[in-house]
Amino acid sequence: MCECVTFLDKTFVKYITSEEIDRAVARVAAEIESEYRDDDPILLITLNGAVFFAVDLIKRLDFKCRITCVKVSSYAGTESTGNIKALIGLNEDVKGKRVLILEDIVDTGHTYSHLHRMLSEAGAKDVRIATMTMKPDAYKGDLPVHYVCLNIPNRFVIGHGLDYDGYGRNLNDIYQLK
Ligand code: IMP
Ligand code: MG
Repeated sequence: MCECVTFLDKTFVKYITSEEIDRAVARVAAEIESEYRDDDPILLITLNGAVFFAVDLIKRLDFKCRITCVKVSSYAGTESTGNIKALIGLNEDVKGKRVLILEDIVDTGHTYSHLHRMLSEAGAKDVRIATMTMKPDAYKGDLPVHYVCLNIPNRFVIGHGLDYDGYGRNLNDIYQLK
């Protein structure tokens, strides 16, 4: 039996279960907890996709922090365009603060380097990233990707926040393009 879902013209097959995601998030949460416990950091959620991962992660973090959101867009369909649009900007003062970006996926890394530059220019003391998934073979950046829950191959995925033209975010599991 194919555990498949179809949105628009594409079919996706189940790839990573929500239990596996949970275990990976718990491991990363423990690392983040020990790194940031005494630092009163800002956790920066990138809308829309990272919301699901961010809630999973933040519920496991028991330290003083602020949470804020930005919205950027680089994707059209299943392709990263490298052309980053800021749809909702930063409205938190990050000067002198440690900032941890929360992402659903790091693909080419264009979004991450864009955010890193923006936060550094705004005076952040330190900028790191925690991501639910990463495609190491697609990554073109120089910056270290500090906290990765799941490394995945360079294939398009949806679910657990990740979308195909807006669809599939509410799937609990992650699905891969068939
Ligand atoms: P990057 O700038 O190429 O690293 O792409 C980052 C953004 O592209 C992510 O925040 C996602 O919104 C989107 N993205 C990249 N790969 C995928 C994928 O496989 N499925 C869904 N969205 C993706
Ligand atoms: Mg995203």
